Amino acid sequence: MAKISMRVNGQAVTGEAEGRTLLVDFLRGGLGLTGTHVGCDTSQCGACVVHVNGAAVKSCTMFAAECEDADVLTIEGMADPGGALSPIQQAFQDHHGLQCGFCTPGMVMSAAALLQENPKPTEAEIRTYLEGNICRCTGYHNIVKAILAASGQETETIAAE
Ligand code: FES
Ligand code: FES
Repeated sequence: MAKISMRVNGQAVTGEAEGRTLLVDFLRGGLGLTGTHVGCDTSQCGACVVHVNGAAVKSCTMFAAECEDADVLTIEGMADPGGALSPIQQAFQDHHGLQCGFCTPGMVMSAAALLQENPKPTEAEIRTYLEGNICRCTGYHNIVKAILAASGQETETIAAE
C-alpha cells in the first residue's frame, strides 16, 4: 500500500491504495464517494466518468496512483455546497434526462466536459461526444435535449421520440 494525495471536489485528501487500485475504487471505497458508478468491467459504459485536471476520464481506466497531486471532480462536486444543482444537473432534471439514474453521474460529467470544450454543441456533436456513455433506459433523446438546454439552445429542433 502507498499513500496517495489529491484534491477531490476542491478538498485535499490522502488515502492508501495499492499500485493496482483503480481511481474509481479509490473514490468509492476509499473516500466513500459512491456517486461515481461502475457499470461494466470493460471500460465501455461511461458510468464512472469523472474529471481529472479538467478532462473527462473513465475512472475505471486509471490507477489511483496516476492521480497523485491531481484535481479530481466527481458528481458530488457538481452541486454547490448549499445543495443547488449545477445548470447541467438542473437541465437533466427539467428535461427528464434520466430514468433509473445509473448512467446519470457519468452522463452529467461527460456533458459538463463537452460544454467546457464546446459551449454550443450541435445535436450531432452531443451524440458523438456521448459515444462512450451507455444508457439502457432513456434512448438518449432527453439526455441530448437536456444538454442542448444547458447550452442555452432550443430543444424543439430535435426529432420527437
Ligand atoms: S465502469 Fe468505467 S466504463 Fe464502465
Ligand atoms: S437512466 Fe437508466 S441507464 Fe441511463
